[in-house]
Amino acid sequence: MVIEAPEIARKRKAGQFIVLMIDDKGERIPLTIVDSDNEKGTLTIIFQIVGKTTAQMAQMEKDDFFLHVLGPLGHPTEINNFGTAVCIGGGVGIGVAYPIAAALKETGNKVISIIGSRTKDILILEDDMRKVSDQLLVATDDGSYGFHGFVSAVLQNVIDSGEKIDIVFAIGPVPMMKVIANLTKPYGIKTIVSLNPVMVDATGMCGACRVSVGDKTKFACVDGPEFDGHEVDFNLLINRLRMYCNQEKQAMEKYKCECHGK
Ligand SMILES: Cc1cc2nc3c(=O)[nH]c(=O)nc-3n(C[C@H](O)[C@H](O)[C@H](O)COP(=O)(O)OP(=O)(O)OC[C@H]3O[C@@H](n4cnc5c(N)ncnc54)[C@H](O)[C@@H]3O)c2cc1C
Ligand code: FES
Repeated sequence: MVIEAPEIARKRKAGQFIVLMIDDKGERIPLTIVDSDNEKGTLTIIFQIVGKTTAQMAQMEKDDFFLHVLGPLGHPTEINNFGTAVCIGGGVGIGVAYPIAAALKETGNKVISIIGSRTKDILILEDDMRKVSDQLLVATDDGSYGFHGFVSAVLQNVIDSGEKIDIVFAIGPVPMMKVIANLTKPYGIKTIVSLNPVMVDATGMCGACRVSVGDKTKFACVDGPEFDGHEVDFNLLINRLRMYCNQEKQAMEKYKCECHGK
């Protein structure tokens, strides 16, 4: 989705996100800024339909308005000339990995990107990722395209090939980021993950996005969303993401009934 928001487009950097609200009864949801066009004053976001708000967004049409779009939020990704950087994106996380890979490439890094999805049909941004990578490796869980298996197995192959990796960025489902962080730890490869806890105000005041990093409490909205993957308590994050499952299910059911009633 392309959103007109010139002031955010002008300021935003790789790794940052927006919080939007569809209408005055809507939930505030955080979404990563995948790309921006300074001249047109637009932002590009990519979202997966997982519940009420994202389902409602998918029904929006050209020239519709959001009630609020707030941003750019969060710390930008720390981009340096690390040497060889591996950028891993899983599912809709490829949208978050793309601006990071682009910024790393622009800074002179050798960029090896690994992208993966459940199946070929839902793989996003393959061409865009190829353009900003020295090497692009693709994996699908069902083997319908590229390597048959998970992105973590592809990373293991890259490590086994003797490639000297200076840093890994891993963005995707929490279990994927956890596996990647566990994989790189014994090799001492610095690994950055982008966390996606539930966020409400996204300005560091409500505490909803509380995560534990290196045994310290951090707020992902203002301290992150990127953290050292070797320090993150992924199990706490997984449990906290499940906290509102029942309410989310109810909101989706209610929304479906309202849609059918129209
Ligand atoms: C910094 C950040 C960047 C994100 N970027 C993207 C992105 O680029 N594309 C994308 O598809 N998704 C992204 N997400 C996740 C996205 O915010 C959720 O999918 C969305 O809030 C779901 O809302 P819903 O009403 O459709 O679903 P719900 O039914 O409300 O929730 C479905 C699941 O989404 C998560 N979620 C729900 N509410 C929130 C919330 N307020 N904040 C965070 N997560 C929530 C929970 O895990 C929940 O179980 C990002 C999350 C964060 C924190
Ligand atoms: S979302 Fe409220 S403190 Fe981070």
